[in-house]
Amino acid sequence: MKNSMSRRQFILAAGALAGSAVLAGCGGSSTSSSSTSTSADSSSSSASSSDDSYTLVKDGTLTVVAELGFAPFEYMNDKTGDPEGFDVDVINAVADKMGLQCEYLPNQKFDTLVPLIKQGGKADVSIAAITITDEREESVDFSEPYLDSNQAIVAIKGSTETEATLNDASKQVVCQGGTTGNDWITENLPNATCVPVDDVTAALTGVQTGLYNAMVVDLPVAKYMLTNSFSDLDIIEEIATGEQYGIAISKDNPNLTKAVNKALEDMKSDGTMDSIETKWFGSTI
Ligand code: ARG
Repeated sequence: MKNSMSRRQFILAAGALAGSAVLAGCGGSSTSSSSTSTSADSSSSSASSSDDSYTLVKDGTLTVVAELGFAPFEYMNDKTGDPEGFDVDVINAVADKMGLQCEYLPNQKFDTLVPLIKQGGKADVSIAAITITDEREESVDFSEPYLDSNQAIVAIKGSTETEATLNDASKQVVCQGGTTGNDWITENLPNATCVPVDDVTAALTGVQTGLYNAMVVDLPVAKYMLTNSFSDLDIIEEIATGEQYGIAISKDNPNLTKAVNKALEDMKSDGTMDSIETKWFGSTI
């Protein structure tokens, strides 16, 4: 976490000047961002540095961590080996507005993302369709919400299951571990067996094969996955949880949250957000 202009930053800046556009969507030379050399306590101790400075794991780069199995928000493009999705476009645009490159760490399990940001040192932000919850807000800060969401119950087509029939000791309801879907099952289907798994595709495959009676997952993901890969599954119920997604950032880095919020605000007012929504959802939502 050393600062001063690194060789890499210099090369990137030089590349940007030369008009190089290798890193699509997250280029740009850095002018306004500054990172301090101490990792914590940017509140009052640094009298001389400007008080809008924030720290970055790597100079000139917004380092992002996510669970990359949550289409259309984040998934791996098998051909390019790069992450793609709504969130990927959002964070690239945020980085771009901040004059930073953006770099993804390798895929991580969903329930490790908030602890990883809390712990610090590996990633600056996590964007992963993470619902802002009171419990998570005890560990990390969130940006302003960037999207509204709800949950869905998914079952095999023609299934007669309902919320009521699923709340039974004979029923297995799968979810991604550590998600708000997981919490919803625990709270609302206390008699069912809740089965948390790491991978959403594996969970849906399990519903397909009859291993599980149903899955609870974010509604936009259910819609996307059913349209694109699981045409034999159905959304049997939409659950109006009224969730909002936010970008998770360390509490030790409040100015990074401010800078991200500023970028999001600009993206809302200049139409960037609308065009990303239209790209992934066919309309603004
Ligand atoms: N919105 C849900 C939550 O915050 C699920 C998010 C899962 N995201 C992912 N990339 N797997 O708990």
